[in-house]
Amino acid sequence: MSSPSIDLPEGNRADFGQRPLRASHNLHEHALFTDDALIELLDRFPRERLYALTMGDDPVRTEGNRLAVHDGVSGADLLRAVRNGRLWLNVTGVDRADARYRALIDHLYAQLREQAPRFVPVASQGTLLISSPHVLVYYHADAPASVLWHIRGRKRVRIYPALDERYMRHEFLEDIFAGVRHEYLPYEHAYDQAAVVYDLVPGQWAIWPQNAPHQVTNLDSVNVSLSTEHFTRETRRRARVYTANRFFRTRLGVRNLSVREHGPVALLKTVVHGLASRAGLDPLVLKQHVPAMRVDPDAPGGVVALEATSSSATAFN
Ligand SMILES: [Fe+2]
Repeated sequence: MSSPSIDLPEGNRADFGQRPLRASHNLHEHALFTDDALIELLDRFPRERLYALTMGDDPVRTEGNRLAVHDGVSGADLLRAVRNGRLWLNVTGVDRADARYRALIDHLYAQLREQAPRFVPVASQGTLLISSPHVLVYYHADAPASVLWHIRGRKRVRIYPALDERYMRHEFLEDIFAGVRHEYLPYEHAYDQAAVVYDLVPGQWAIWPQNAPHQVTNLDSVNVSLSTEHFTRETRRRARVYTANRFFRTRLGVRNLSVREHGPVALLKTVVHGLASRAGLDPLVLKQHVPAMRVDPDAPGGVVALEATSSSATAFN
């Protein structure tokens, strides 16, 4: 096994993270990502941090996205359900559960820092994504900045302009930063005209500007990717500005506040919001996914409805 290495082209180093970029790595040769290694990881991974999600096939109808429970389903059966069904497994905080992932992510970020001198991450975390052939991830935006390290299968990533209200209203991003809404966003096919499209193959990684909406479609076999999220002074500043704007909008009815991240107004807003939060004046009801399905590797799609499993369980009692 070769040691992990990445390539960041010379022309993308000065403004790293500010525009979409695709480059190469060699993680696909790493022993952590074989079927056997994935099964072993899934068998011992804390299941409360493993999310199985169904996906529909229409990019404008997000109701096909449902959470599936998987207690008692072995790692091998989870992988079989992914192979035969239409599922995503989000193995969140994989670096907290497995020191080898932490070491790998540290190694990757050390190389990014070395090659992009202005990039100064202060923290990072990883989610392993294991997903079925041909599934899609709906149009959405994530709060943190992230890098997608693609390892197995092929996938198409469409990246849309960041912080542009034609593609995502600022209020949606405020709610995403506050954690009170799911990341999925209203989508129209016409947006695709503005998208940068990458067909990723094993051994490629991609980054896009923080909060740029994106949509992902798997093209063929089971896909395995490592998604890493990183935090810098700039990403944290943006989070504070947007959550402050949300506070002033929802608590005081002040709309359309500036999204400028620098200067005295931004500072004042974030200080006031910080004090208000600490005083309990900005209570948040965090988003929650309610399980509707159960993973079943022998069922079409790899899942059955939860009601079906409870009634069949009753029948066998
Ligand atoms: Fe995403």
